[in-house]
Amino acid sequence: MEQKQVIPTTFVILGATGDLMAKKIVPALFGLHEVKALPKEFRIVGISRRDWHDEDLRKHVAAILAVKAPHASQELVESFLERVIYHKITFETPEDYVALGEALQRIDEEHQTCSNKLFYLSVPPQFYKTILENIHKAKLAELCDPQGGWTRIVVEKPFGNDEKSARELDMQLAKLFKEDQIYRIDHYLAKETFQNIVTFRFYNNLFENDWGKHTVEKITIREFENIGVEDRGPFYESVGALRDVGQNHLLQMLALTTMDQPVSLTADAIRSKRAEILHTLILLDRAGIKKSTFRAQYDGYRAVKGVAADSQTETYFRVRGYLSHPRWEGVPIILEAGKRLIDPKEKKEITEIEVMLKHPQPCLCPPDRHYRNSIVFHQDPFEGITIHFWAKKPGFTMEAEERVFEFNLRRSERKSQYTEEYEKLLLDCIAGDQTLFTSSEEVAAMWRFVDPIVAAWSNGVVPLRQYAPDSPAIAAEAQVMDDAILAAVTGV
Ligand code: BG6
Repeated sequence: MEQKQVIPTTFVILGATGDLMAKKIVPALFGLHEVKALPKEFRIVGISRRDWHDEDLRKHVAAILAVKAPHASQELVESFLERVIYHKITFETPEDYVALGEALQRIDEEHQTCSNKLFYLSVPPQFYKTILENIHKAKLAELCDPQGGWTRIVVEKPFGNDEKSARELDMQLAKLFKEDQIYRIDHYLAKETFQNIVTFRFYNNLFENDWGKHTVEKITIREFENIGVEDRGPFYESVGALRDVGQNHLLQMLALTTMDQPVSLTADAIRSKRAEILHTLILLDRAGIKKSTFRAQYDGYRAVKGVAADSQTETYFRVRGYLSHPRWEGVPIILEAGKRLIDPKEKKEITEIEVMLKHPQPCLCPPDRHYRNSIVFHQDPFEGITIHFWAKKPGFTMEAEERVFEFNLRRSERKSQYTEEYEKLLLDCIAGDQTLFTSSEEVAAMWRFVDPIVAAWSNGVVPLRQYAPDSPAIAAEAQVMDDAILAAVTGV
């Protein structure tokens, strides 16, 4: 894949010695370099407060690649390292940004060009405000060539920690960049399975006409992970599972599953449909939160470094919500995620969206069996779609049995966590395609739904249960409790 974009680009990473650089940015950029998808003139300017020189950063990057791309040839690694430059900044010092501006200009002059500038905030969110103010003062977001080129900014999740702080961050960004220059990352949007929902729903004439409350009984979105919190104690402790993956990944999965058909496949059209459906999430009040949410923490979590000994942070949650959109009124939406957890049915980690259909009315299927048709979009442990249905059992009787159509896009064969998604996302930032990035309206709508739940939980409205790690028991228990509440309401 050759990069069509020929305009020279400078990729400025603030926080170049941090975790994100090693986990996501370097492996993805290297992957793009390997398939020649980066512009020919593409420089990576790594920034941190360390007293480093180009050679130090290059060594650091080489060490990351030795782990993440162990089979890459020396020649390929060297050619990648040639793109890497280091610049020291203390984030709080305005003069340092002026010096950065001069350094960027020097790099451009050396290559006799005025390059596009992509700023990547790969730092903890508490630094955003200071960095953005200083970028503003030093006029780094201004174009060196008003006739062409661009400047853009990439912001990692979490985008704020509630609606208010997300709005404040947006206002801050808006002083410097227009919405079409701001790239808010949610790597789930770049996963093949979830991109494929748009294709499956809107390119085919299979289910879309009946996609809604008349046919769909409930939608369940699950993300059960084998891994625990590992070395991310301080971060995780301050957010918990609902804000870590619920407010973003799971709600984006919901948006793709339930949004109306966009008028076209442009970024604006798709993003506005995602935002529209997210705005129809019905906010839960205190009574609703008590009845329809469930939270728990795995035994051993409190021993993780950076976690409080009496931590009340959830590592598992289940939330039942509804949309006020006419197409989806009354359809329960279950959002469920957890760490150190396996699925009660599959007995392994899974990430999927299950769209369960109602029984036909009247139903000729066996009255004592409540097996219903469902369409499942699978992300883990394989990427694909399955359709579960009744079929006649071969033989002399009309006995029916459960069967499955399976579309297997591929077994999960990703290079390593995040790499494939970040390759796609970084390429799209460079190409200026915002389809797979979250708009400010989407972010606000997702926080609006999550904020009251987080507040009620921190007031102890819902007890925090404990669960044995690597067992499906807690998810099974939450399901039984929720199904009983649902049955009491609907009589089903
Ligand atoms: C991240 C969360 O956004 O997504 C992590 O912060 C989580 O806690 C991860 O493990 C899951 O991503 P993936 O791509 O491995 O499903």
